[in-house]
Amino acid sequence: MFDMYTEVILDYYRYPRNYGRLDGANAQARDLNPLCGDEIEIYAKIDDGKIVDIKFSGKGCAISQAAASMLTEFLKGKTVEQARNISKENVLEMLGIEISPVRLKCALLGLKAAKTAVYNYLGEKMNEEI
Ligand code: FES
Repeated sequence: MFDMYTEVILDYYRYPRNYGRLDGANAQARDLNPLCGDEIEIYAKIDDGKIVDIKFSGKGCAISQAAASMLTEFLKGKTVEQARNISKENVLEMLGIEISPVRLKCALLGLKAAKTAVYNYLGEKMNEEI
């Protein structure tokens, strides 16, 4: 089971879905992992309360890249409200492997950037710790 999930993560790392900048994005945010200096930027196009398109760019380890990529796939087509409610556990579930405390920051880098982008779009301050 573990191997299968590792394969999936490596596949997302090698061939990241939704990678690149998004022209016409109206929500954007960047987050940095202070432990390694890696960063992820999220770009989203939100229309009528819905994320119609979303991409990410940046650099980082396989876990950070795979998690960000999976998250963009998940968020595409979702409402802003659904994006706001997505939890750390949801992202860890997508990854499907046990994440050690040191790698947690890697796994949640994309989530923090995505949530910050949504909050920026709404003109609100993010009031949760990721
Ligand atoms: Fe830098 Fe994972 S080691 S994000």
